[in-house]
Amino acid sequence: MIYFGSKSGWCVLATAAFLASTACATQPAPEPIAALPAEPAPAAAPADPNAWPAVRSRVAIDPAQEARIDQILARMTVEEKVGQLIQPDISAVTPEDARKYKFGSILAGGNSAPGGNEKSPPVDWLKLADAFWNANNSAAWAGDTIPIMWGVDAVHGHANIPGATIFPQNIGLGATRNPELIKKIGEVTAREMAITGIDWDFSPTLAVVRDDRWGRSYEGFSEDPEVVASYAGKMVEGLQGEPGSPNFLGAGRVIATAKHFVGDGGTDKGKDQGDNLSTPQQLRDIHGAGYPPAVEAGVQAVMASYSRALGQKMHGHKELLTDRLKGDMAFNGLIVGDWNGHGQVPGCTNTSCPAAINAGLDIFMAPDSWKGLYESTLAQAKSGEIPAARLDDAVRRILRVKLRAHLFEKGAPSTRPLAGQFNLLGSPDHRAVARQAVRESLVLLKNQNHLLPLVAKASVLVAGDGADNIGKQSGGWTITWQGTDLTNKDFPQGQSIYSGIKEAVTAAGGTATLSVDGKYRRKPDVAIVVFGENPYAEMVGDRPTLEFSPSDKSALETLKKLKAAGIPTVSVFLSGRPMWVNPELNASDAFVAAFLPGSEGGGVADVLFRGPDGRARFDFKGKLSFSWPKRADQGPLNRGDANYDPLFAYGYGLSQDEHSEVPQLSEERPEGGAAGADGVFFARGALPTGWTFAPSDGVTVRAIDRRGQEDTRLLTFSGTGEQAVRLTSPQPLDISRESNAELSLQVEYRVQTGPTGPVAVGMEGVSVPVTQTLRGAPKNQWQTLTVPLRCFARAGADMAKIGTPLVLKTSGKLTIAVSDVRLASAQVPQDRCSL
Ligand code: BGC
Ligand code: BGC
Repeated sequence: MIYFGSKSGWCVLATAAFLASTACATQPAPEPIAALPAEPAPAAAPADPNAWPAVRSRVAIDPAQEARIDQILARMTVEEKVGQLIQPDISAVTPEDARKYKFGSILAGGNSAPGGNEKSPPVDWLKLADAFWNANNSAAWAGDTIPIMWGVDAVHGHANIPGATIFPQNIGLGATRNPELIKKIGEVTAREMAITGIDWDFSPTLAVVRDDRWGRSYEGFSEDPEVVASYAGKMVEGLQGEPGSPNFLGAGRVIATAKHFVGDGGTDKGKDQGDNLSTPQQLRDIHGAGYPPAVEAGVQAVMASYSRALGQKMHGHKELLTDRLKGDMAFNGLIVGDWNGHGQVPGCTNTSCPAAINAGLDIFMAPDSWKGLYESTLAQAKSGEIPAARLDDAVRRILRVKLRAHLFEKGAPSTRPLAGQFNLLGSPDHRAVARQAVRESLVLLKNQNHLLPLVAKASVLVAGDGADNIGKQSGGWTITWQGTDLTNKDFPQGQSIYSGIKEAVTAAGGTATLSVDGKYRRKPDVAIVVFGENPYAEMVGDRPTLEFSPSDKSALETLKKLKAAGIPTVSVFLSGRPMWVNPELNASDAFVAAFLPGSEGGGVADVLFRGPDGRARFDFKGKLSFSWPKRADQGPLNRGDANYDPLFAYGYGLSQDEHSEVPQLSEERPEGGAAGADGVFFARGALPTGWTFAPSDGVTVRAIDRRGQEDTRLLTFSGTGEQAVRLTSPQPLDISRESNAELSLQVEYRVQTGPTGPVAVGMEGVSVPVTQTLRGAPKNQWQTLTVPLRCFARAGADMAKIGTPLVLKTSGKLTIAVSDVRLASAQVPQDRCSL
C-alpha cells in the first residue's frame, strides 16, 4: 500500500481488497507525505562504535567548590556518608528518621503525599518539606550540616499537587516540535515546585519509544531520536536555568533528572522494565540520543533505568553508568536509582546491593527498603566491599549537586523565594503556557469536507466520557500515580474540554450541550465526541496490542449512531500512544489526536472553532512524533524501518485548509493478543483468549447481566465439601514487576447469599482468607475486593510464574456474582493479608 499526500490532502492507493478505490483521481498530483527523511544519528558519534560522544557539561568542575567538598568529606563519618546514598519515600519514613539517619534525600513517589492523602493541599507539602529540613538540620553532625533534598516526579507540570498547572504529557509536547516552548514549560514547572519547597524533579524522561505497547509511551517525546535530542537540553535549561547565568539553580529553579538511562523505551515487546535488545550503537544513537544534549546543558542528575541493556540490568551496568556516562561524556552530577530498581540486579535484594554502587550508582531510591539497605550498605562500606574511593566519589557528587543548587545557603524551604505563594500555582500566566502547548500538540488526522474549523454559532453536542473529565484528559502521574480516582473538583484551576467548548460556543451565540452517551432531544448541527484511554502509569499501561479498548466499544457506537443520524462527527481522541482506531476513524468526519493534554482543556476549542468573525483563530500545528499504526499488531513501527507501513507517517498532521479524503479503512480486528498481559483478566464478560473460568464439581457458573449483556458470572457454591472456581491462563504470567510496584488483585463482586463457611482467595496455590470481608459485605451490592499481590508473594507464590491468577474457594454455601477481575493500584495497607 502506498501513501501519498499533497498540499490539499492525502489519499491511499491501495491494493488490499478492503479498501475501496480512492478519491485520488480528484486530487492533485501526489507527493510523498510527511516527507521528513530518516536522519542519521545525532552529531559527534565517535569512531569507536562503543564509545559515547565526548560532550562536556556547561557546568564545569569548580576547583574552589571541590576544595570545600574535600573539607566536608574529611569531617564526615562513614555513617553520614552512607546516609547520603539512601533515598527513602515519605510514605515510609518520618522526619525523626531523617534526624537519626541523616539521609541525603527523600522522595515522594507517585502514590505518596503528605499525611498519606494524595489530595493534600499545597501548604501541606511545604510544611512537610520544612519538617524534613529542620529534622535533618538538627541532627548531630560530626562536621558540617548537610542539607537534605526532596525529589518528586513533576513530569508534566507539578502534577502531584492539586491546583498546579498540568501540561500535556510528553507525547503531546513531541507533536508541537517547539523546543522553546519546552524550555518555558520547564521554567513554569520549576516555579510551581519552588512554591511548595521541593528541590528536585525526576524529569525529563528521554525515552525514545520504539514499541507503543509500552505503558510509558506517553512519557516519551517521540519514537525518533531527533525530537528527543532537540528537547532534552531545553527542558533541562528550563528547570535548572542557564549554566553560567546568575540564577542557575537559583530562586525558582530545581534540579533536573534525565531518565531512564538508558534504553527504557526500547524493551522487547514494549514490556515495562524489560530487556532492550539493541546493539551498542543503537543504544547510543537511538536510545541515548537525549543524553549528550542533557549533559551538555548541565543536567545534575541521571536516573538509571529498570530495564536491561547489552544483557545486563542498568542498575548494575558498570560499563554504561561509569565508563560511558561518567567517563566518555564526563557527566559530573549524580546517578540516582529507580524505585527499588537495584533489587533487580542479579545477586541483589531491595535491602542489599553493593553491586549497584560499585557499578556507579550514587543514590539508591529505597522507598520502603531504606532501613535494611542503610545497614547492609554501611557494613559493606566498613568491610571495603564498597571501596572507600567509590563511596567518597558518590558522596562528592551528591555534595557537588547540593552546593551547585545553593542548598547550603538556601535555608528552610518555606523561607525561600516563591515558597508559599500558592496563588501562583496554576496562575493565569502559567496556564497560558499550558494552553498554548495544548493547541500546538493537537494533530489533525482527518478533516473530511473541510468540516474543521467549526462555526461556533451553532448547536453543538459534546459527547463521550472524556468530554468533561480532566483526570482522563491528563493521564497517569496526575495527583495519583495511576491518575485514577479523580474528579474535576481535584483540579481547582483546570478546565475540561467540554467547558472550553462551551465557552467558545456560548461567546459566539451558539449552544453547547453535554451528553456523555450522545443522546439528544434536538438534532445538533455537529457532534464532538471526546473519548480514549483511561489513565494508567508504568507497567499497568502495557498492552498486548494497539487496539483501542478491545472490551468496550461504546465510543464507537456513539459515533456510529450520530453519523447514521446525519450529524457531522468530530472525534477528539485522548490517548497515551497512537492506537488502532480504524473503526472510529471511519465513523468520524474529522479526527483529532489530542494525546493527554492536561489541565487546560480550553486549548482544544481554540483550534476546533472559528472566531466570532467567522475566521479561524488558531491553526492546527501538531505533527506526529510517533507513527500511527494501520494494524493493531504494529507494536514496533518507527520512521526509518525497513518495511515502514504506517497509516499516518511520522511527521503527519494536517492544517485546517488541508482537506483530506481518508478512504474507508479496514475494520478487521486483530488476532488474539497476549492473554491477560495487560492485567485485565476478566472484564465485560470477556476472558482473554485461551483463559478459562473453571468450576470444580458442585459449583455452578451462570452468565448474568450487570452493565451489559451477560458481562458477569454468577457463582453458586453448594456447600458440600471444599469447592473452587479457578481462573487459569494458558501460559504462566510474570507479574513480579506488578508485585514490586505494590499492585493488588481486584475483584468486583456482589454477595447474594452466604457465606456459611470460610472463604479464601488464592493465586497459584497460596491463598488469603476473605471470610470476614464477604460476611460483612452488604448483600446485593457491588463491592471491590482488593488483595495486595505482596500477600501472595509473601505466602510463597512465585510471582514470575502465575498460571492461576484467581481461585475462589469455600466449603460453605455461597452465591456470589463476579464481574471484573484485574490487577490495579489501590491505596491499601500492603501487610493486611487477612481480609
Ligand atoms: C519510575 C520513575 C520515578 C520513580 C519515583 C519509578 O517507578 O520508574 O520514573 O521517577 O518511580 O516515583
Ligand atoms: C512508582 C511510584 C509509586 C509506587 C506505588 C512505583 O513503581 O514509581 O512512584 O508510588 O510504584 O507503589
